[in-house]
Order: sequence, then structure tokens, then C-alpha cells
Amino acid sequence: MENTIRSLQQEITDFEITTHADLEAFRLKYTVRKGLIAALFGQLKTVAPADKPRIGQLLNQLKLTADNRIDEEEAKLAANAGDSAKRIDLTLPGRRYFTGSEHPVQKVLGEMKQIFSAMGFGIATGPELELDRYNFDLLNFPPDHPARDMQDTFFVTTGNPDTDLLLRTHTSPVQVRVMLDHEPPIRVICPGKVYRNEAISARSYCVFHQLEGLYIDKKVTFADLKATIYSFARQMFGTDVKLRFRPSFFPFTEPSAEVDVTCYLCGGKGCRVCKKSGWLEIMGCGMVHPNVLRNCGIDPETWSGYAFGMGVDRTVLLRYKIDDIRLLFENDLRMLRQFPA
Ligand code: PHE
Repeated sequence: MENTIRSLQQEITDFEITTHADLEAFRLKYTVRKGLIAALFGQLKTVAPADKPRIGQLLNQLKLTADNRIDEEEAKLAANAGDSAKRIDLTLPGRRYFTGSEHPVQKVLGEMKQIFSAMGFGIATGPELELDRYNFDLLNFPPDHPARDMQDTFFVTTGNPDTDLLLRTHTSPVQVRVMLDHEPPIRVICPGKVYRNEAISARSYCVFHQLEGLYIDKKVTFADLKATIYSFARQMFGTDVKLRFRPSFFPFTEPSAEVDVTCYLCGGKGCRVCKKSGWLEIMGCGMVHPNVLRNCGIDPETWSGYAFGMGVDRTVLLRYKIDDIRLLFENDLRMLRQFPA
């Protein structure tokens, strides 16, 4: 037994350890619970009582040598790993950090907001998942109006007129919310995303952006509406744009109009974008229908108001000469990096 211990002592001291795998092999051979050293401790009971103290001491010594060896080699391996981490390759090119920048839609929306803020409009927002009532009923849509048709609206729940949810098809429900929550006078714009279940193409997408405006006060007239739209259009599209108000229909305004500006790409001469007409349609507008005011707790005998609503994405496409609306929603970095901060 004594000889075995002595030869093991030598083996343990000479065992070659250069890698983590060597160290693990060492541990498995000698120091684990089923290793050689433990086996020798097991044999201690067969040793003659007189020799036990001496053999025991030799065994303890052997165990200590093995444990120390493990500690030392672990430390060496760790130090080597540190070495390679410290080796820096100064010839490597530097890392490039990309800074984010404003999305073109946000740029245009930002300009629009600024123009209206300067005219005294506050900004209101509301949920994109909206109550059916706010999107349609309170806005004076008759129950069988075609806009409620499945083809236009992404309905989320149906069956209970009071709690049914849908993805808002326009930002007008935000105006309902503002009217329900605030006493007139009211002067807000409502920018945001809207959803329509339309065929997806280069010109139309299932999501797009609108900016609507609402002004309610005493004695508000169509002349106020026209002046506001004129002022906005000149700041947004250039001082020499001309405007055209065409009679139109919306359930929530009466009278209603659609507004065209002279095509700011060809100056009104007629081009591919304005389809040779010289005009571009920019928004719908009108005087808020008395039913809508009543639905929202505002007395139409005392108060009157106007509302307008425009799509934002078309202006973005024209402004930056982007020919496919889908590019605005796909977040392709190759496209977004063309709009640095
Ligand atoms: N909500 C209308 C739409 O989505 C736009 C509009 C807003 C028209 C306000 C008139 C007044 O088409």
C-alpha cells in the first residue's frame, strides 16, 4: 500500500496538464468520489492498526497534493485565457454605430403638426383599437352605411353594438372622444394610424396615416374652414398653390367638400402624377353635422364647428419621390438609411 501511494504521489506530480480537458481527466482519475485516492482511503480499514496512522497521513498528503495541483492548473489556464483577451488586433477596422433617424412619415407629420400648432391647435390622440360606436354610430353613420362593410373595416368583435371593437378606419373617433371629454371651445388636430381592409398595391396599403382637425366655437363658419385650409396649404405646399373645394359627402359633416391643390410637381400644367388634371386631392372637410355635436353632448344651437381630414402618406410619397407606399411600412433599413437625421 505504501508503495502504491508513493508511486501515485509521483504520478500526480508529473501528470501533464496543458488544457481544460487534461485537467478534467486528472480530476476524474484521482480526486472524484470514485477516483483512485478515494479507493485507497477505502482500503485503509484493511491496514494493520499499528500502520494506520502513518498510512493515513501519507494518504492525506496525497490528497492534498492532488487538490493543490488542480488549484494551480486552474489558475494557470485562467491566466492564459486572460492573455488572449488582452491581445488586441489594432489593424481591425472600427465598429460602425448607426444612429436612428426620423421616419419620412414622421418628418411630414411633424411639419403638419407644427403648422397647425402655430395656428393654435392642440394635439389629441386616441386608441387604434376603437369602439364601433365611436368610429361609426356617434359620427352619424346610418346602420347600413357601406363603409361598415367587411371590405373596408377590420372588425375585431361583432354582436354587441355598445362594446364591439374594430381597428379605426379614420381618426375621426378621436374627435368624438375629445368632444365627449371637453366643453367647447375645442381646437385640436388628431394625427395617427388608420386601418382599411383594401387590396394591397403600390398605391394603397392596409395601414396608413391621417391627420384630422376639429374646431368648435360660437359662430364658426365655412369661411373659417377655408381660411385655415388655405393657410395650411400655402405653408405645406408652397405659397403659389391654388385650392379648389368640390362639394362632397361625409355622414359627419354638412355641407362637405373635398379639397384639391394645384399639382405641386408640374405646377398645375398636368403630369403623370396628377393624371394630366393639374390637381391633387388632399383632404375631405366640412361643417360638423348637428347630429354629431348632439351625440357628443354639445348643443348645436349654441356651437358650430368644422372638421377636416387628410391622408399623410401620399404627401410623403410625392415629397420624397417614393413610388410604392409599402416602402413606408416595411422598415427596410436600405430605404430608411436614405433619410438621415
Ligand atoms: N374621416 C374622413 C375620412 O377618413 C375624412 C374627413 C374628416 C372628412 C373630417 C371630413 C371631415 O375619409
